[in-house]
Amino acid sequence: MTDTAFEPRRIVVTGGCGFIGSNFVHHVVREHPGVHVTVLDKLTYAGNPGNIAGLPADRVELVVGDICDEGLVDRLVADADAVVHYAAESHNDNSIADPSPFLETNVRGTYALIEACRRHDVRYHHVSTDEVYGDLPLDDPARFTEETPYRPSSPYSSTKAASDMLVRAWVRTFGLAATISNCSNNYGPYQHVEKFIPRQITNLIDGVRPRLYGDGRNVRDWIHTEDHSSAVWCILTRGRIGETYLIGADGERDNLAVLREILRAFGRPEDDFDWVRDRPGHDRRYAIDSSKLRRELGWEPRHTDFASGLAETIEWYRENEPWWRPAKEATEARYRAQGQ
Ligand code: NAD
Ligand code: TYD
Repeated sequence: MTDTAFEPRRIVVTGGCGFIGSNFVHHVVREHPGVHVTVLDKLTYAGNPGNIAGLPADRVELVVGDICDEGLVDRLVADADAVVHYAAESHNDNSIADPSPFLETNVRGTYALIEACRRHDVRYHHVSTDEVYGDLPLDDPARFTEETPYRPSSPYSSTKAASDMLVRAWVRTFGLAATISNCSNNYGPYQHVEKFIPRQITNLIDGVRPRLYGDGRNVRDWIHTEDHSSAVWCILTRGRIGETYLIGADGERDNLAVLREILRAFGRPEDDFDWVRDRPGHDRRYAIDSSKLRRELGWEPRHTDFASGLAETIEWYRENEPWWRPAKEATEARYRAQGQ
């Protein structure tokens, strides 16, 4: 831990209209009253300005723009004392259908941000994923640590890995004041209906059978997005420059178990779903050892009761149909075309 905490006053949050970024903006507004947030978001299909609507205008400003726009990024970074970078193309299935925007946003966009942070000597936090480490076997107790070699499987995870590598190189070569976090699968409010948990919840609301890929035994290490937010704030303000921290909450579950919990919550039989075509290159298991973050920075997850977190998330989708409805049909049409 650093001796004195870094106390940012003006932060740029990229991708702050997406799922995890918007939850982070809410977290900062609620927990850190002196901080002003400028959200930089392109409002792709995954970005929704409604996610941060209603937050106080003197605390949160939305700038609609592309992180690849070097001039815009330079102007915003010049006026900030930290950048927290969430913006990304984030969905594996989309990256298999068309990798191109993943290269552009995840790699070139990160490059534009770290160059601007270098020019203006601005603190940078890079939000990444455990998927950069590839996958683990089901029959092995090993978990990812900060020392696990990079071995990404998909176009999505390989572009995230590339962006992590850029940040590491900028720290070493240019002295960029950066930290990196790699987190496991998030769940909670405002997650796009293309992702596993919201897709199945909204299918069930629509009276449609959920869809399970492959044999359903793939394991994900679920963390509530609010715990991800508190961890990122902790690393931004107290993490050691140049370090990587893994974020996870010991939430390993296979997809079949998660789906059965969702089906139970809807009062449906546990086999009331369809098996569909597996994802090409589908990673088997992710699992995070977050002991470095807990030991060095004293962070602890608080939303570790998955059953109640899931019940709250289901409730949120039931109460916020106008939020997800506009994206549902186009998302399902895309999946149908892929046989999923
Ligand atoms: P998301 O797809 O819900 O949101 C991405 C946001 O970025 C959207 O608001 C979108 O409009 C914006 N965006 C995309 N391209 C942009 C560009 N070129 N310029 C500006 N804005 C752009 O993603 P998410 O699930 O919230 O993930 C956020 C970050 O967290 C990503 O970096 C992702 O790799 C990482 N992450 C996600 C998970 C997860 O479980 N979803 C887990 C670990 C890490
Ligand atoms: P996803 O939410 O896409 O996250 P990630 O690929 O980043 O882990 O998928 C989570 C898991 O759920 C993954 O193993 C793929 C699986 N899955 C299904 O079985 N059915 C679905 O309809 C979707 C979208 C995902």
